[in-house]
Parts: sequence; structure tokens; C-alpha cells
Amino acid sequence: MAHRRTRVLVVGASGFIGRALAERLVRSGSRVTAVSRKRIRIPGAVMRHGDLRNPTFCRSVTRGMDVIHYAAGMRKNIAHHTAAPFDFFRGNLEPLLCFLDALRKSPPRTLVYVSTTLVGYVGNSDGTDDGYLLGKYASELALRAFARETGWTVHIVRSAAVYGPGDGTDPDALTFIPSMIRKIRTNDRELLVWGTGKRRLQFVYIDDLVANLIAIGRKKRGDVFAIGNNQTATVDQVAKMVMEALGKKLPIRHDTGKPDKPSQIIRFTPPVKPRVDLRSGLRRTVTSSTL
Ligand SMILES: NC(=O)c1ccc[n+]([C@@H]2O[C@H](COP(=O)([O-])OP(=O)(O)OC[C@H]3O[C@@H](n4cnc5c(N)ncnc54)[C@H](OP(=O)(O)O)[C@@H]3O)[C@@H](O)[C@H]2O)c1
Repeated sequence: MAHRRTRVLVVGASGFIGRALAERLVRSGSRVTAVSRKRIRIPGAVMRHGDLRNPTFCRSVTRGMDVIHYAAGMRKNIAHHTAAPFDFFRGNLEPLLCFLDALRKSPPRTLVYVSTTLVGYVGNSDGTDDGYLLGKYASELALRAFARETGWTVHIVRSAAVYGPGDGTDPDALTFIPSMIRKIRTNDRELLVWGTGKRRLQFVYIDDLVANLIAIGRKKRGDVFAIGNNQTATVDQVAKMVMEALGKKLPIRHDTGKPDKPSQIIRFTPPVKPRVDLRSGLRRTVTSSTL
């Protein structure tokens, strides 16, 4: 008897993570339906374009799926998240609530939700101004209630900062690595770094996150996962690796008038061990980047 291909829905497929995930699932032989608002195409996937805040649209895309990966969200960078906290709170929670409401009509299957390790800082005083963080935190609470009520297997995947080819397409919302690449590319005299440059950071390369999302989607009991690479690097070390990848050397000047955030290091135990170290991941990112 022919083996039935798993039907997978990827929500947020025009985004950095969703697109990479949908492409990988297509390559691995899954039957992929990909949802986005932007009218993009992913070869091999059935595309569905619409807004998740539309209940009719949500009902029409959720029917008959074995696994759903929810990688939609409203994300820019901390400057935006703190300037318009309610917009980011709502932009993350409202589409998810509408989507979950539609899912209640389907028999219980598996839902993988892409969250962030940053939710751990919501209790801190500096986390409460960030509407994105609050929205992701509230989304996790909504998912727990949904799982309990419906019997869906819900996995919450808290990801470290993700980087790799395909990131940083919105010049108005560059995160740490794309913005570092752009600063080094466009400056010829020096690189200005806020703080002492000693803060330690952790990341995960896009392919490593995607491999984990797919593995987690096969698990039968809902759980919370923290996914990231245990390798750490200081801000200055990241800057030097980006310079090396770009073949450019700039002196680093520190603006110590700007506060340094504390290093917050997590011991990750992901189901699939990350394979791409920071130096080679940055090389691949820089090669494909148009920043
Ligand atoms: N990138 C990271 O470093 C990182 C780290 C940890 C967690 N995450 C989480 O992972 C998720 C995906 O991140 P990303 O970096 O891939 O973000 P992204 O590039 O900004 O993509 C976000 C996606 O969400 C979709 N979306 C947002 N609101 C929607 C709505 N109302 N209806 C339909 N689609 C909607 C966007 O669709 P359109 O563009 O078509 O409008 C886009 O496809 C986010 O929730 C983020 O919190 C990201």
C-alpha cells in the first residue's frame, strides 16, 4: 500500500522562518500548504493567501492537516516593540486567537508554535515595555488553555535569536546580525558598538531551527522546548566574525555611555543537535545577504 504523505500547514510562510521551514518540508516529501498574506510562491507547496484575523479564511486552511507549524507573528526590533507596545501585543495575539478558534472545529492533531526564549524575561522590569514579548507570552498562555480544552498536541518552541540567509529583508526592522552586517558593509572608518562589547549572546542558525521544528512536529506529547546553539560569543566577537566573513577590518569603538544588557545564557538541549557554528553560519549569511 502506498505511504500517505503527511499533510503539513505552515502559517507565516512569507516570513524568514516559515519560508525556510516550508521549503525544507517540501524537499523532505511532505504535502505542504503554506499560508501568508503576501502573495509569494513556494515551489512544491499549495499557497493560500489571506489574513489570519479572518475566521472564514482560518477555517478554510486548517481542515485536514496532520501537523500545523505556526510561524506567524508581528516582529520588528526592540525600538519598534517598545514604541508601540499595544500594536505588537495585539499583532501577535489576535491572529493566533482567531486561528485557534477555527482549529477547534477540527479533530485534534499537532500544532507547533514558534515562540522566543525572550518570554523568560517578561517578569523583569525591562521586559514589560516590549509589546512583542508580552504578545508572545500571552500567546503561550492561550496555547496552554487551548491544548487543555481541545486535546490538541501543542508544542511551544522557544527559539533563540535566529540568523541565516533570508533574514533582514525589511531595512526598517533589522535585528542584531543583519544590522551588524549592514553597519560593517557601509562604514569605512570604524565600527561603533553600544556598551563594552563584552555581553555574551546566543543564536541559532536557520537550518538548525528548522530541523528541530520538524523533529518536534513528530512528537506525540505536547511540550515546551528551548532551541538554540550552546555556543556563545560576545558582541565584539560577533563583529569580528562578520568582518572576517566580509573580508573587511574596522577598528571597534565602544560607546560606554550606552548601557550594557546582562548576558543571559541558556543551556539548550534541543532534540536535534545544531550543526552550524557561528563562524560558518555568518559566512553563509553574509554571502547571500544584500544588506
Ligand atoms: N527571527 C527570530 O530571530 C525569531 C526568534 C524567536 C522567535 N521568533 C518567532 O518566530 C515567528 C516567525 O518569525 P520570523 O522571523 O519568520 O518573522 P517574519 O519574517 O516577520 O514573518 C512573520 C510572518 O507572519 C505573517 N503574519 C503576521 N501577521 C499575520 C496575519 N495577521 N495574517 C497572516 N499572516 C501574518 C507574515 O505574513 P506577511 O509577511 O505575508 O504579512 C509573515 O509571513 C515570530 O512569531 C517570531 O516571534 C523569531
